[in-house]
Amino acid sequence: MIHATRNHRRHGWLATIAVTLAAIAAPVVASPVEVVIEADRPGATIHPNVYGQFVEHLGRGIYEGIWVGEDSSIPNTRGYRNDVLAALKDLRVPLLRWPGGCFADQYHWRDGIGPRAQRPKRVNTSWGGVIEDNAFGTHEFLDLAEMLGAEVYVNGNLGTGTPREMAEWVEYITADGQSTQAELRRRNGRDKPWRLHYFAIGNEAWGCGGNMRPEYYVDLYNHYATFVKAPEDNQPKMIASGGHGDMTEWAEAISSGVEPNWSLRLDGISHHYYTLPNADWEKKGAALGFDEAAWFATLRQTLLMDDYIVANKEVLARNDPDGKYGFYVDEWGTWYDTEEGDNPGFLFQQNSLRDAVVAALNFHIFHDHADRVHMAVIAQMVNVLQAMILTDKEKMLLTPTYHAFHMYRPFHGATTLPARVRNAPEYRHGDGAIPGISVSAARDTDGKLQLALVNPDPGTPLTVHVAVQGGAVQRASGRLLTADAMDAHNSFAQPQAVRPRDYSVEAREGRLAIELPAKSIAVLVVE
Ligand code: AHR
Repeated sequence: MIHATRNHRRHGWLATIAVTLAAIAAPVVASPVEVVIEADRPGATIHPNVYGQFVEHLGRGIYEGIWVGEDSSIPNTRGYRNDVLAALKDLRVPLLRWPGGCFADQYHWRDGIGPRAQRPKRVNTSWGGVIEDNAFGTHEFLDLAEMLGAEVYVNGNLGTGTPREMAEWVEYITADGQSTQAELRRRNGRDKPWRLHYFAIGNEAWGCGGNMRPEYYVDLYNHYATFVKAPEDNQPKMIASGGHGDMTEWAEAISSGVEPNWSLRLDGISHHYYTLPNADWEKKGAALGFDEAAWFATLRQTLLMDDYIVANKEVLARNDPDGKYGFYVDEWGTWYDTEEGDNPGFLFQQNSLRDAVVAALNFHIFHDHADRVHMAVIAQMVNVLQAMILTDKEKMLLTPTYHAFHMYRPFHGATTLPARVRNAPEYRHGDGAIPGISVSAARDTDGKLQLALVNPDPGTPLTVHVAVQGGAVQRASGRLLTADAMDAHNSFAQPQAVRPRDYSVEAREGRLAIELPAKSIAVLVVE
């Protein structure tokens, strides 16, 4: 697949864009963008897990957001709230990561098993200093993933745990037979082992996970991972915790310093990158009520994801030319200033059309790098950062980001296809410019041709002519997400303000003319 975003940066197509000074000054009527899908040139498969989700013991992400307990007046199934469960099932969550994040390195799994009334109460020193009563633990998490049909990603505690504690956790989850851990699990109500798909050794070791140097972490990875053992048919893929943003030294140290052998495995290196409108941790920017400068800055910041993946892929191409290691972007998304009046440690933020556009641009980047990026996990699923779902006690709403994830479901497991883009516009604001369209095409697992288009420009609608190389096109149909305001969002008073609408267009003379509104996302089946 060819991504228009990358074409601009890497192949110098800017030179082909006819943007005259007059066109900038006058109301813009852009000439049609030409897209040709090369349906006969399949590329890499998009791993469904690039649409992964993250739940951490953070704010109302789990407690209230997912888990309310069996005695709650909020309708629930064995403690999980029904409205959230239904929405997540419909989303087809492919992968769930837990328990952190930073919290992973303070979490001792034995606190979260056994009768809930007897579980210890700890201070959540990572997030908000609140009491963690451990009502949601290993069983609650793994049962949730099972109900959703999601693969499971457990993040081990390297920061404050021991190799023995880590090894026994994996044994507790995966062991059949009569071992003490397996019997303990049975006494706690679960007979058969759960399937464990991924296991990580620590989180953000460069920061909240222990403020380590990469070389020190590599030694610890080798040490701890050696003792993570599971039955042959239930071996988790092993993840080393990598860098953030423009860092490449972590991928470098891990891919050159871990040497898998019969007693040590490595399958993926994680990476985190958050989109802050102002690129400033002290003053990140507001979730709502922002101007076009903030809209533009946010999109420009988010497109850096592509550069960071490219830089790390270059490292891996040198140290792992056979492509044994996946590059897992296991935390990404927008991070704004927290809502006033809320506990700043809860990272609760509203979510607008801008977040949906951010999500779609990142999906296209992940599709573009499907050969190496086999997992991406947005932070986080409910009530935290760029969430799918927000709750207020018994109330619940789906965010624009939820709708973006929902629209892209056909891309789970799809095969990428190149899309040639001609006459691609730029979106300019102030002194800056970013690509004015992002295109991603793929053949889905049902054999249908999927086309996703993003118009990031809040002021310029586009006409996009689409053709399929070597084949006639009859129609395109699917869904379109847009709104009048840049910060259009769903509130508990108006939970349906932003939602996708149906869109279809018939071809004329073998070509589609898709009208793509300003600031919009379209996901269409092309027939
Ligand atoms: O997602 C919130 C936090 O961001 C995670 O706990 C941590 O890994 C990252 O810094």
